[in-house]
Amino acid sequence: MSTIRQQIEAVRAEYARLPAGLLAHVERVVAEARDLAARWDLDLDRVELAAWGHDLFRAHPPADQLRLAAEAGLPITETDRLEPVLLHGPIAAVVLRERLGITDDEALAAVRDHTLGAAEMPLIAKVILLADKFEPRKRQRTPVMREIRRLARRDLDAALLCWADWKWVEERTHGWVSHPAHWTARVRWVAEHHADRALPPILPLDDDADPAFGA
Ligand SMILES: [Fe+2]
Ligand SMILES: [Fe+2]
Repeated sequence: MSTIRQQIEAVRAEYARLPAGLLAHVERVVAEARDLAARWDLDLDRVELAAWGHDLFRAHPPADQLRLAAEAGLPITETDRLEPVLLHGPIAAVVLRERLGITDDEALAAVRDHTLGAAEMPLIAKVILLADKFEPRKRQRTPVMREIRRLARRDLDAALLCWADWKWVEERTHGWVSHPAHWTARVRWVAEHHADRALPPILPLDDDADPAFGA
């Protein structure tokens, strides 16, 4: 049974075979995630492990990502087939568990869900997803990420929701589809946000005329 620091070193060593640009991004995410995790009093080593693991398969060619996902027994949707890069987190989570012996379920969930989010996310997963989106290079490219970073220090859930809103606007602006898994997560985040603020639930639209309005 290896220690968490040994696991981090084993994952870090995998990047020797991967592009330097990817390593540089992951190093920025590690630093960003550790900084945010410290503000939320999380275990920094567990967060660092997830940060190192999150993009292990990001640079693999799409055909390899589809093959690796099939070998890992992952479900592959039509959206995944069109955009195999969406599989890089789920593939990494399986490989980290099966090949590198990592058993920290929350760290593995953080790796798996860092691209699209999930309805249920442990704190580590929220930190990794957000750090990945607002590491220095990303917030330089997309200045609104600075605001989301600032918000994440106060309220991780509100920051996630703001990121999802930004993503929604990007997708509609460019005519991209929203991934069903992300949409499911987003709907839950919105519902929880309303519940937190004791707002009444959103009622389904009724096509029939409301008798209260006499028509
Ligand atoms: Fe990624
Ligand atoms: Fe990343």
